[in-house]
Amino acid sequence: MFPTKLFRNKKSLIAVTGGIAAYKVCEVIRYLVTQGSDVRVMMTRSACEFMTPLTLETLSRHPVYRELFPRNGYAAPQHVHLADWAELGAVIPATANILGKFSAGIADDFVSSTLLALHCPLLFAPAMNDRMWENPFVQANLKRIREAGYEICPPEYGFLAEGYEGMGRLARLEYLIQALYRTAHPARQSLKGKTVVVTAGPTREALDPVRFFSNYSTGKMGVALAWEAFARGARVVLIHGPIQLTTPYGMETVGVESARQMFEAVMDRMKEADWIIGAAAVADFRPAQQATEKIKKTAHKTILELEANPDILATVARSRRPEQIVIGFAVETTEGKRHALKKLREKSLDMVVLNNPLESGAGFAGDTNRVTLFHRNGRQLELELMFKLDVARKIFDFVLEPNR
Ligand code: CTP
Repeated sequence: MFPTKLFRNKKSLIAVTGGIAAYKVCEVIRYLVTQGSDVRVMMTRSACEFMTPLTLETLSRHPVYRELFPRNGYAAPQHVHLADWAELGAVIPATANILGKFSAGIADDFVSSTLLALHCPLLFAPAMNDRMWENPFVQANLKRIREAGYEICPPEYGFLAEGYEGMGRLARLEYLIQALYRTAHPARQSLKGKTVVVTAGPTREALDPVRFFSNYSTGKMGVALAWEAFARGARVVLIHGPIQLTTPYGMETVGVESARQMFEAVMDRMKEADWIIGAAAVADFRPAQQATEKIKKTAHKTILELEANPDILATVARSRRPEQIVIGFAVETTEGKRHALKKLREKSLDMVVLNNPLESGAGFAGDTNRVTLFHRNGRQLELELMFKLDVARKIFDFVLEPNR
């Protein structure tokens, strides 16, 4: 899960409607609270059958809203006040019922009335039985909601409460956060109609069937860039080496092993790309020979011959169209600026992102990074230590909003 300061002090309103997936909203609320968001929760009557409001009051540290006409409250239009307060809204899980009511403009309880009064970005994460999901009226309602500009985090195929597999499971937590990030993004449409190709993670260069060369890259920076491009409305292709992270939803993901496979995958998609970002830690060399059998230690071979891998980004930059934007990383442990500027020039990049994995907080596996951005037009921006997802936002801002 990516931490980000995007949710800090953000007034977030979570609506919980009545489905068995309701218990999963706890993790979303916890995530938002840990990111510094100010969270309020409202629940429908059926949601309260599945989970007690006390759980969500404890997690959000505020009373849960439930009644349109509370018995002991004064009859103020609380739903309108709450809707005016919110800066980000999400319905998790969203039942067929709430989708139907919302798309038809029905307001007959606290949740549905508040949703209609909202005027901030709003996300729906549907979850229901597969037959209900396939129902043409449910699909038509969803279509109307999507076309009206609301965000949808689609459900997944998997084990359902009914005891069999089908489409309709609530999206997993990582997807829900990815969707919330997109919903809350200040420049949601800034890459609409664009295709962004991102490389991420390490490559593996096989020595024999059981051994390989690789590096410490986890793919976090590359996946953060893919989230960021997705949040800005781009069509995203994420080409990644072996990584442990959940690959994002809503984009084409291509898993590869070696540098040569990554090279092929990038070249295949190069034509369609408006942006190409090389965040992968590509192995520069591979063993000259790949043994088909495990190499025995009795072979006594201590010198290994290596041969060079193709430089993916340099090849991309050489053969690109002028309007394509090519961004690279420079991982340097000494003389960072000099090497970064050399890579910018020699690989003909539009921009290079310099980072030093030896600096504290800027390593491979962590959630944070400390980078300096260099544009080929001479602009330079040194960023403080920040979350990788926030670095990703700054990288796109640096190119798209040069005057900021
Ligand atoms: N890169 C690439 N293909 C390679 C090597 C690197 O596309 N075979 C890309 C990386 O994804 C990164 C940039 O080139 O965006 C710079 O990578 P880096 O490892 O910092 O530098 P190298 O070009 O490998 O040079 P050196 O190892 O000498 O620093």
